[in-house]
Amino acid sequence: MAQLPILVAPDPRLAKKSLPVAAVDAEIRQLMDDMLETMYIAPGIGLAAPQVGVLKRVIVLDLAGEDEAPAPLRMANPEIVWVSDDDAEYNEGCLSVPEHYADVVRPAACRVKYLDENNVQRELDAEGLLATCIQHEIDHLEGVLFIDHLTSLKRNIILRKLLKAKKTGAGGVPA
Ligand code: NI
Repeated sequence: MAQLPILVAPDPRLAKKSLPVAAVDAEIRQLMDDMLETMYIAPGIGLAAPQVGVLKRVIVLDLAGEDEAPAPLRMANPEIVWVSDDDAEYNEGCLSVPEHYADVVRPAACRVKYLDENNVQRELDAEGLLATCIQHEIDHLEGVLFIDHLTSLKRNIILRKLLKAKKTGAGGVPA
């Protein structure tokens, strides 16, 4: 496995739409494993391929707590096929928006259809933080960051600070 550099906003590659994978083959499995290693080191609970500069529809997640066994989820071509009517608000963060957090409202539960690491089609019903995280990661595949759900005023404040941090070389995340 290999640790990959994580892109930090503002970066035009984070605003691009990712393309579906034809099938989950050895190359995509390797990408999934490299993304998981990168996510665990960061550390984070979710990562989407465009965040490591790969414009493919691949995401990984692991919401296991510190004292729990790892529970990695690897998804290719994830697609939300159902969302609940009720919403939930979470204080979200993102490895591509380091050190900034904001409340985002999304559907409280969702059903996601995806290809797993063995190229098998699966469906997963998610609620709570997992539902939020899946929606956040799929947003990345559309070129959408959590800050795009905020008012332009709030978003611009965060983007200005990130740009300033990049220029001064502050922040430990490689761009
Ligand atoms: Ni993110």
